[in-house]
Amino acid sequence: MQKDIFIGDVQSGGHDGQRIELKGWVNRARGSNKIWFIVLRDSTGRIQCVAKREDIGDESFEALKGALIETSVVISGTVNVDERSEGGHELIIDSATIIGPVNPDNPFPITESAMANADGGETEFLLDNRHLYLRTARMTHMLKIRSSVFGAIHNYFRDRDFTEYQAPNFVAGAVEGGSTLFEVPYFGRKAYLTQSWQLYAEAAMPALERLYTIAPSFRAEKSRTRRHLTEFWHAEMEIAWAGNDDVMVHGEGVVRHIARTLLDERSDELESLGRDLDLVANYADNPYPRMRYDEAVETLQGMGVKIEWGQDLDYSKEKVLTQDFDVPHFLTHYPRIAKPFYHRPDPDDPKYVLCHDLLAPEGYGEIIGGGERTWSEQEILERIEEEGTPREPYEFYIDVRKYGGVPHGGFGLGVDRVCSWLAGAEHIREVIPFPRDSRRVTP
Ligand code: 4AD
Ligand code: MG
Repeated sequence: MQKDIFIGDVQSGGHDGQRIELKGWVNRARGSNKIWFIVLRDSTGRIQCVAKREDIGDESFEALKGALIETSVVISGTVNVDERSEGGHELIIDSATIIGPVNPDNPFPITESAMANADGGETEFLLDNRHLYLRTARMTHMLKIRSSVFGAIHNYFRDRDFTEYQAPNFVAGAVEGGSTLFEVPYFGRKAYLTQSWQLYAEAAMPALERLYTIAPSFRAEKSRTRRHLTEFWHAEMEIAWAGNDDVMVHGEGVVRHIARTLLDERSDELESLGRDLDLVANYADNPYPRMRYDEAVETLQGMGVKIEWGQDLDYSKEKVLTQDFDVPHFLTHYPRIAKPFYHRPDPDDPKYVLCHDLLAPEGYGEIIGGGERTWSEQEILERIEEEGTPREPYEFYIDVRKYGGVPHGGFGLGVDRVCSWLAGAEHIREVIPFPRDSRRVTP
């Protein structure tokens, strides 16, 4: 039953004039009593297939005519080069077998008009039918782009001798503040779903020195924005003997490598989605400037945005700030009061911490958050106290500093956010197969 030939290969001219067998799903169909046209799709593309009653006989012809959208079929025929057909080829059918029929009482619900009315696939109807919506060309392109983004991240870190390392997802304490913690009952105690791999990565930093992961993180985000999920994929890295600047080099490096990989592997998909490839090339080829938080606040105030020194930048502000950026920009040195305890205060001016956010252009905003860690025992105890955080869940974290602490740092990159930005999606939901937000855990 294994499949030998994919439509993409046929459309690239690999089987011209040959008699072949194709396996796939009916994407569109039309015709008359004598001739029937089926657009067949598989994971690699679409091709028009033509059946004539006189060639294939009444029984096969009627079966094909009755095959509704998304019926699975095996079709044999001869490949014709035909400039007028989509992709430049068509298949002249000589036999066809229906594998999985579709009941006419329950036709495939994702129609072109349902999609046209759904502005980028966001309506509740398409979300309710997400398991079926995945088969559309738009989602297939998104999923392939996503796969290349994951591959690029692994390659970037592995090529630089980082070790992939896994941390627990059930944890006892917050990393990024208590307000977005998901609480889970845990045998009579409370546990939480982790917001980040970071604290447990720091524990392995003295063992591995350079480590990374790609894993889900969880945040009870009540607000539904175009860039928030409650379950998102988080690429994180941690590196020993490194400061804020060293970490930023890797943040820039991995993002530029992702953009380059997409141009190499997924140009067709990006173009089909209407993405301007010159923009993506810009993100791959040009350096990312660095700007201090104070400068960003002044810029925003100059633009008439209401913001006070000390506030973290939320989406509304990042959106305004990044609208005219031509490449991503790092924002560094946020006020100490705006960031969690693990950020290292700047020895030159402890009002600030040695941290960075990487903000993507076109109004997308934050895609990376990272920085240098508070690495001495005394300093971490002060920071925990200052934040009023209970010490108990962090004893292991403090221990890391007790035994040979060293300067180190790392970052977390929102993989779905990067996919959304580079693919030019309207909403982060478009780039993850089954998006989770405060209102939806199904399908
Ligand atoms: O800035 P954040 O909160 O930083 C951390 O979690 C650090 N502990 C990471 C580290 O240093 N290892 O999150 C990092 C990134 C954000 O920049 C954003 O891209 C993404 O994770 N992110 C989300 N993506 C989708 N939905 C959400 N609700 C997200 N929250 C954060
Ligand atoms: Mg952040």
